[in-house]
Amino acid sequence: MTTSGDSPATPLRLGSAVVHGATGYVGRHLVRALLLEDVTVLAVGRSDAGLDAVREWLGEAGALMRPVVADVSTDEGSHYVADQLRRRGGIDAAFAAIGGWWEGPDLVDLDTATWDGLLRSHLTAHFLAARSTVPSLAPQGSAYVALNGIATLKPEAGSGPVSVTGAAQSMLLEVLRAEEDRPRVRFHELCVVNPVVDDGQAPDAREAVVEITDVTAAALRLARAGDPTVVRTELGQWQPAPAATPHSGDSAVG
Ligand SMILES: NC(=O)c1ccc[n+]([C@@H]2O[C@H](COP(=O)([O-])OP(=O)(O)OC[C@H]3O[C@@H](n4cnc5c(N)ncnc54)[C@H](OP(=O)(O)O)[C@@H]3O)[C@@H](O)[C@H]2O)c1
Repeated sequence: MTTSGDSPATPLRLGSAVVHGATGYVGRHLVRALLLEDVTVLAVGRSDAGLDAVREWLGEAGALMRPVVADVSTDEGSHYVADQLRRRGGIDAAFAAIGGWWEGPDLVDLDTATWDGLLRSHLTAHFLAARSTVPSLAPQGSAYVALNGIATLKPEAGSGPVSVTGAAQSMLLEVLRAEEDRPRVRFHELCVVNPVVDDGQAPDAREAVVEITDVTAAALRLARAGDPTVVRTELGQWQPAPAATPHSGDSAVG
């Protein structure tokens, strides 16, 4: 289901959260926004060094972050995360901010190794993050919020793998939702349709952009009170291409 808004529901109290992709731009800001609201945050990243850098960047609040070093694009890493979350008991919210922007050759010129690598970082990692996390979401009320971007909605020439994996990531979330039998566990996609910039940079931008605090606020709003019937929320401005005129059914087949 697609919408450009989220509607209020009984707000969920966020006591604990996990952030996948915590070493990335959006991920580390999510960690900070959650810590500022006194949420216990498990920050999942692939390396000690990356998570140390986030801790340093957080300043004083960094001491409160709980680092989980694991590569969720591998079975080993995802099992480790699953184990850590199981030990904690019910998690109130999970955020998946894995995989960033990529530009390269058109699909017809793309080598298989690059394609495989992007499937792993932009899709398999989302699958394994969900597989490791969803079973530990609190049954009495919780939310899984995955970040996504414009390439999901629109075919981006030169960023084909990001479009293909983004569309698949949307369906991944839909299937997780369809398979979920705990009625109070919600799934949301936050599709940020413009580049994200630091706070205060939007007025000088030459194109439509979204400031990072608006992204983290929207993600937390979805986690707390997203409409359970709405999977995708778009943030930003874009103009969908006009719909193609459907063919009439008189073409010769066979
Ligand atoms: N930034 C934007 O302008 C923007 C705009 C619209 C939507 N978004 C959405 O926001 C989300 C995050 O984007 P971002 O800009 O924060 O990206 P980013 O800064 O490049 O961060 C990507 C994160 O994904 C992790 N990652 C990459 N490959 C991985 C793999 N194979 N296994 C596990 N983790 C992996 C990275 O870990 P390492 O640090 O270890 O590499 C990093 O934590 C994406 O879904 C994107 O579509 C971003």
